[in-house]
Amino acid sequence: MCGIVGYTGEKECEDILINSLRKLEYRGYDSAGIAVFENGKIKTVKAKGKINDGLVKKLDEEGSLKGVTGIGHTRWATHGEPSDINSHPIGNGRVSIVHNGIIENYRKIKNFLIGKGYVFESETDTESVAKLLDYYYKGDPTEAISKAVTDIEGAYALGIIFIDHPDMIYAVRKDSPLIVGIGENEMYIASDMTALLEYTKHYYLLETGEIASISKTGATFCDIHGNEIKKEIQTATWDISEAEKGGFEHFMLKEIHEQPSAIHKTISPRIKDGMPCFDECGLTDDMLRNYKHIFIIACGSAMHAGMVGKYLIELLARTPVIVDIASEFRYRNPLLSDKDLVVIISQSGETADTKAALELANEVGADTLAFVNVVGSSIAREAKMVMFTYAGPEISVASTKAYMVQNALMYLLAFRVAFARNMIDEQECRRLVSVLETMPDKVGECLEDLDPYRKAASKLVSADSLLYIGRGLDYALSMEGSLKLKEISYIHSESYAAGELKHGTISLIHEGMPVIAVTTQSGLLSKTVSNMREVRSRGAYVIAVCAEGIQIDSDSADFTITIPASEDMFMPLIAVVPLQLIAYYSSVLRGNDVDKPRNLAKSVTVE
Ligand code: F6R
Repeated sequence: MCGIVGYTGEKECEDILINSLRKLEYRGYDSAGIAVFENGKIKTVKAKGKINDGLVKKLDEEGSLKGVTGIGHTRWATHGEPSDINSHPIGNGRVSIVHNGIIENYRKIKNFLIGKGYVFESETDTESVAKLLDYYYKGDPTEAISKAVTDIEGAYALGIIFIDHPDMIYAVRKDSPLIVGIGENEMYIASDMTALLEYTKHYYLLETGEIASISKTGATFCDIHGNEIKKEIQTATWDISEAEKGGFEHFMLKEIHEQPSAIHKTISPRIKDGMPCFDECGLTDDMLRNYKHIFIIACGSAMHAGMVGKYLIELLARTPVIVDIASEFRYRNPLLSDKDLVVIISQSGETADTKAALELANEVGADTLAFVNVVGSSIAREAKMVMFTYAGPEISVASTKAYMVQNALMYLLAFRVAFARNMIDEQECRRLVSVLETMPDKVGECLEDLDPYRKAASKLVSADSLLYIGRGLDYALSMEGSLKLKEISYIHSESYAAGELKHGTISLIHEGMPVIAVTTQSGLLSKTVSNMREVRSRGAYVIAVCAEGIQIDSDSADFTITIPASEDMFMPLIAVVPLQLIAYYSSVLRGNDVDKPRNLAKSVTVE
């Protein structure tokens, strides 16, 4: 989704703004622009396309912008196609803004302003805010901002500059995130910390309804009534090296390789004396014993981690778990009460539907527990209990290491629920924890030789469509494998419970169609193998992913990838690696932009 940056200080800001925007490219965008105070005037350059092909090219042609205060933006189009005119910053010579989010009542505001003589140029919702600020601006920026945000409805983060204040940046937000970075005689704004890690680790978190007035020496904050707000300085724990490729060709490949250490960092602080421990978030065994229902709500890959969680909790704790897609859950009037636990999973902590689901659960009075990767994100702040996944910054749009550690936390939760509900004893709980602790090594082993994944990818890369099949936990994992392939290779695929094929989908099988069979569940092996034979005898090209020690004969598979073995229950953590890498190499072989697949945004902050 859109990215915002801003700088005010003593240095020429063009390069800083562009460099920071590059760090936000991972969020997904289709145009970019900057506005800088040059000799007391607001000068704007913006262009459709990638930063280098559009904005930088235009700056080369038209001349760079010289000034020490400016704002910048990467736009992911929602209202109006990607075009120069619809790009941000948007404004006139008096007020210029960059905006992330959606203004829901922009038509009403636009009509009001047209009645006042304003002429609109773009198709964006943002222009109505820029012109509304201009309408209210009589010399006092915070007064204009307060009046404007009283009128607008929707989600927004705004970076604003006003002509009479050439050494200031103003910012306000509701729901969409924004931070204010703190440097030495320089200050910044950004949608997230990755944009600023090169310059500072210190920042303020802007909260909904707060207005920031930022000069090079610091920032002051007030609410919309002008009451001053004191804020604490936050310090990022992420390191700049984590947000760089570090010799890998793509962030996705680097992030896949970071999985062993991400699992270790995520689980080890939550294991106390060999037992899973949720004390840090206040979740007690008493609470776990008494919940009537457990819901797991998320989107995309995070929801797939929830599917693994459901299988585990139901298997170990014999407690039913409802997994739901956040965009469905929030509108289906779910059967939820204050006796339930709602587990919310989100890498970014900003996904609009997931956040809305969390708010709904909070309103009903359910206990909410969030697994979140970004400290200070909206979901992390709004959940009653939070456990951070320590994956570090995930830059590639396709989630890999974040998904992995969401799963890892799910294992600890499943063990604890089972223990609290007396379905396993302490000895068994400790044993399960110790198996979980071997996972970083097992995942590491999968990364020793990447050739089989590259070969498997070469077998399916020219297909129009394929199937992923599996049973039980293998089915939960197939969903993730299929999503990963679709999103970065653009090859259509579906995941299917292997036993369900005969009820319709098997008619899709034709000569040469690739089928990826995940066969890591020894208890279900013979069943899945019969399904593999069925599709293979109808012409499918079957790629099997199986654990060491399992023999898949040549009647059942054309190509086999063997991964380290563990107990069935733990296999998803290992088996996801080949699926991620098959998707990765398929994307590479197709010449796609692996880290920034078309049409996608990393952090989906709008509905
Ligand atoms: C897929 C992917 C998405 C996200 C989903 C939720 O690779 O990354 O499906 O998992 O958009 O995002 P978060 O976890 O940020 O809420």
